[in-house]
Amino acid sequence: MASLDLDVLVRVVVIVVVTTAVVVDSSGLPLPGYDGLAVGFYKEKCPQAEDLVLAEMREIVHEDRTLAPALLRFMFHDCFVRGCDASIMLISRNGTGERDALPSYSLRGYEQIEKIKAKLEEECPMTVSCADIIVMAARDAVFLSKGPRYDVETGRRDGKASFQCDADNDLPPPKSNIVDLKIYLSVKDLGWKDLVVLSGSHTIGMAQCGTFADDRLYNYSGKGMQDPSLNKMYAPELRKACEAGDPNDPTPVEMDPGSPYTFDLSYYRAVYNNKGLFLSDQALLDDKRTRDYVARMAAAESPDEYFTDYAEAMKNMGRLEVLTGENGEIRRVCSAYVD
Ligand code: HEM
Ligand SMILES: *[C@@H]1O[C@H](CO)[C@@H](O)[C@H](O)[C@H]1NC(C)=O
Ligand SMILES: *[C@@H]1O[C@H](CO)[C@@H](O)[C@H](O)[C@H]1NC(C)=O
Repeated sequence: MASLDLDVLVRVVVIVVVTTAVVVDSSGLPLPGYDGLAVGFYKEKCPQAEDLVLAEMREIVHEDRTLAPALLRFMFHDCFVRGCDASIMLISRNGTGERDALPSYSLRGYEQIEKIKAKLEEECPMTVSCADIIVMAARDAVFLSKGPRYDVETGRRDGKASFQCDADNDLPPPKSNIVDLKIYLSVKDLGWKDLVVLSGSHTIGMAQCGTFADDRLYNYSGKGMQDPSLNKMYAPELRKACEAGDPNDPTPVEMDPGSPYTFDLSYYRAVYNNKGLFLSDQALLDDKRTRDYVARMAAAESPDEYFTDYAEAMKNMGRLEVLTGENGEIRRVCSAYVD
């Protein structure tokens, strides 16, 4: 009798192990990679985590609405460089971290991520990673800008290294053409659809003149002229805002003219009408598939399809080179020193 029970027990154990082998290893911990991510990862250990992040984000955006776009961009800069591991938060005393790279120079949101982390440390000490906070904050930035509120996968852990050269190499510059853009994304296993959908993030926020004025207004292709593809009615407005010959002009310009704080389809209408601000926005018209998508979204009556696509593309970006299981760490403070 006893041996029969044991036999049954062994068989049950075998079935359990086999059916869950995809997501857990023999120690019961999630396997590294995005298999270790799950929607609602904190529902047992810190059930209030997502509500707390949203409440903090409401306060942050209420105080300064420019922080919604800033925190959306923050996830892009974290995930594209060494994966979504909060390495952007790390501080290098000798000035060789991701924060010190040229593409990060106008990046904002460091203190806000740290503020949300402090709140979560009060409620659930040493539980919620900085990497997950960055992803949740970006999700809420979209929602608080009247965009969709999609589910996010969580379960990331934080990295311990941060190198300036990774940020220089992996973040596409605003002068990228369509071929460059597709390469920058393909090395992250992202495709044309991710490119055209994620670029729609430029429906909110501002850019400094220095990031586009030479390329679009004053020295297109190094020829001392205006970009011939730029909308002829829009160009004079931009020339009024941005001084010629100042590659560091910090004057802010709306990336989606007229609705810089609303997450909507007007970015696609702007790009379709040659009013995309960067060469990288304009470049979406240079590939058949991305151009067709821009055209379709520019003409769409409802943002529903775009919002669904956006949730999917943000999920894809949120899976980049994540640390899960026993990899990486959970730390008390996000902005730790690396040297
Ligand atoms: C596809 C290649 C991309 C390029 C070349 C690019 C480039 C840029 C540049 C140059 C700026 C202006 C920065 C400044 O002057 O302060 C900017 C702003 C911004 N980017 Fe991108 N970006 C890209 C993709 C993305 C993605 C994938 C996201 C988010 C998922 C994103 C979100 C934002 C947001 C929200 C802002 C506004 C930031 C603010 O107002 O503070 N971008 N981007
Ligand atoms: C700065 O720190 C990094 C990482 O520890 C190290 O590789 C690099 O050599 C240091 N650079 C200088 C100038 O000290
Ligand atoms: C335009 O770019 C070219 C090539 O980079 C450079 O040699 C030239 O000095 C620039 N002209 C102006 C007016 O900035």
